[in-house]
Amino acid sequence: MIRARILGVGRYLPERRVTNFDLMRMFDTSDEWIQQRTGIVERRYADEGVSCSDLALEATRDALKNAGLRAQDLDFIIFATLSPDHHFPGSGCNLQRKLGLPEVGCLDVRNQCSGFLYSLAVADAFVRIGMYRRVLVVGAEVHSSALSFTNQGRDVAVLFGDGAGAVIVGPSEDPAQGILSSHLHADGRFAEALRLDIWDISKKPYIRHEDIDEGRVWPQMRGKEVFRMATTKMPEVIQIALNANRLTLDQIALFIPHQANLRINQFCAARLGVPEEKFFSNIQRYGNTTAGSIPIALSEALEQGLIREGDHILLVAFGAGFTWAATVIRW
Ligand code: ACO
Repeated sequence: MIRARILGVGRYLPERRVTNFDLMRMFDTSDEWIQQRTGIVERRYADEGVSCSDLALEATRDALKNAGLRAQDLDFIIFATLSPDHHFPGSGCNLQRKLGLPEVGCLDVRNQCSGFLYSLAVADAFVRIGMYRRVLVVGAEVHSSALSFTNQGRDVAVLFGDGAGAVIVGPSEDPAQGILSSHLHADGRFAEALRLDIWDISKKPYIRHEDIDEGRVWPQMRGKEVFRMATTKMPEVIQIALNANRLTLDQIALFIPHQANLRINQFCAARLGVPEEKFFSNIQRYGNTTAGSIPIALSEALEQGLIREGDHILLVAFGAGFTWAATVIRW
């Protein structure tokens, strides 16, 4: 059987750092409140005029360099984001244009914090059936344009940052190496727990002035519910993924969880009895970059020498929808 593996990983974070102290100048909050509840110290914001596909382009260039490939080698693009350049067409088409790859197919995935793992599963399947040989999977977000920097929006605004990560997926020469399995789940009964309502196609017209005046233009979150479900579903799907591969927790060299909240990941590690240092974290520096967070973390973990050839690693995510997922890789 052909197996798919990750041929290269890249990331891009905008240069502008925004600390908790910077946010304190915009609304009532404190560095202590944010750090205690989320672990976040600072995040990056893209400048005016920079769109999601611009960040994705930089991350893609980094991943291509890492893989020793050129843009022309790519034969399919999967773009995961909840902050697309425009509602349509998909940001994948914008990225494809910027990469100069007319004719290459593009697929946008709208699965929020689990978007990268859902996309990776699709790339894995395409490669395994022999349909494509070099699939770009990119997760990118520009959150900073769609946050309410007011006391009403502060619970959400402190959490998110901008950034992009990318991987290139292709066939593995060694059948024991590569993506071993993906486990994708969702529960739409919780669709309202974390959402952005401004686009409502049941309304005629779908956006009205009062929607903007009443704040429906900003994301809404029931934070405690998200926290509770994330800390239940992530350990659960980790166990499902391990069982599917007959692996035990201590055979995993590194867990790379979505970076939503340091407390969520610490809670999951404790629930599983895994040492905290085996759960990679960089949320302190970037906040929650949603679809970008796992490939950004993977890229940093590799650079730090935390993953060696032959290691088993486990990627895990939870987010709006609710959706959640896990992927096991033998590096
Ligand atoms: N600064 C200061 N005070 C704040 C802030 C802020 N940024 N935000 C809310 N508060 C206040 C509230 O108004 C409330 O005040 P009150 O007691 O006077 O009413 C108080 O702090 C406590 O608010 P809670 O909402 O109860 O705070 P909680 O302890 O639940 O923490 C948090 C909020 C951090 C959002 C938490 O619920 C959480 O992390 N949930 C998970 C959310 C998450 O990770 N979302 C990411 C997106 S989804 C994903 O990627 C998985």
